[in-house]
Amino acid sequence: MTREIYIVGNWKMNQKTEDIKNFFSELKAVLPENKCHAWIAPQFIHMSLAQELSKNVKIGAQNCSHKNSGAFTGDISSESLKDMGSEFVIIGHSERRAFFKEDHVILNEKTKIALENGLKVIFCIGETLEENEKGITKDVLKEQLIEGLKGISGKDLENIIIAYEPVWAIGTGKTATPQQAQDAHAFIREHLGNEQGFSKEEVIILYGGSVKPANIDELLTKKDIDGALVGGASLKAADFGQLCKSASK
Ligand code: PGA
Repeated sequence: MTREIYIVGNWKMNQKTEDIKNFFSELKAVLPENKCHAWIAPQFIHMSLAQELSKNVKIGAQNCSHKNSGAFTGDISSESLKDMGSEFVIIGHSERRAFFKEDHVILNEKTKIALENGLKVIFCIGETLEENEKGITKDVLKEQLIEGLKGISGKDLENIIIAYEPVWAIGTGKTATPQQAQDAHAFIREHLGNEQGFSKEEVIILYGGSVKPANIDELLTKKDIDGALVGGASLKAADFGQLCKSASK
C-alpha cells in the first residue's frame, strides 16, 4: 500500500496576528492543489485565527495537558482542543522533553488522553548529539517508543504519526543525511511492527530537523520517509508552499 505524504509546520513560539494574516494570504498563491497533507501548529492563542484563514491546511496544537480538566493552571486540555476544532496535537517534542522536563510517563498520559479525545497525535522521538556520538541512537528511540506508547497499539495506528527528529538537527541547520534518516526510519518501522503490534507498512513516519526546500526532495526519495515536521522553514509561506509542492509530486 502507498502511504500518503505529510508536511507539518511547527510554528513553536513564533508568529503574531499580522504575520499569520500575511502567511495565509501569501500561501493561497503558492500552495499546490493538495496532493499531500498540509498541517500547521500555531501557538494556542492563534489557533482560531489560523483555522479561519487557512484553506486546505489543517490546524492543530503543539502540546496538550495530561488531564481533561481540573486544577492545572496554565494547561490546555485535549478535550478543549478538540472542542475548538483542533485536528491534531504534537506530543513529546524534544523542546518539551528538555525545557519542560516531560518524561516518558507524562508523555504516555498525554498521548492516551489526546487519542481518547479524538485528536491525531504526532509523537516525536529523537536522540541527542551525545547519544548519537555514543552510538546508542537505536536504544534511545526504542525506549522512547516503548515507554511513550505503552498501552497503545495497532488499533490506534490511524491516529498516530511518528516524527523522528534527531535533537542535534533541530534549528541547527544540520540535517541528518537522507541515508541516516532512512536508516533510523527503517529501524523505527521494523521495531513498531515486530515489537509493538503496529502494521509496519502503514505507520507514517515523518523526519524533522532543519528540513527546507533545498533538502526535502532528496529526503522524500527515501522509502521509509513519509514527510516532514518542519520548524523554521514553515514560518514563510513561500517555503512552506514549496515543501508542499515537493511532497505533492
Ligand atoms: P527546524 O525544527 O525545522 O527548525 O529544525 C523542527 C522541529 O523542531 O520540529
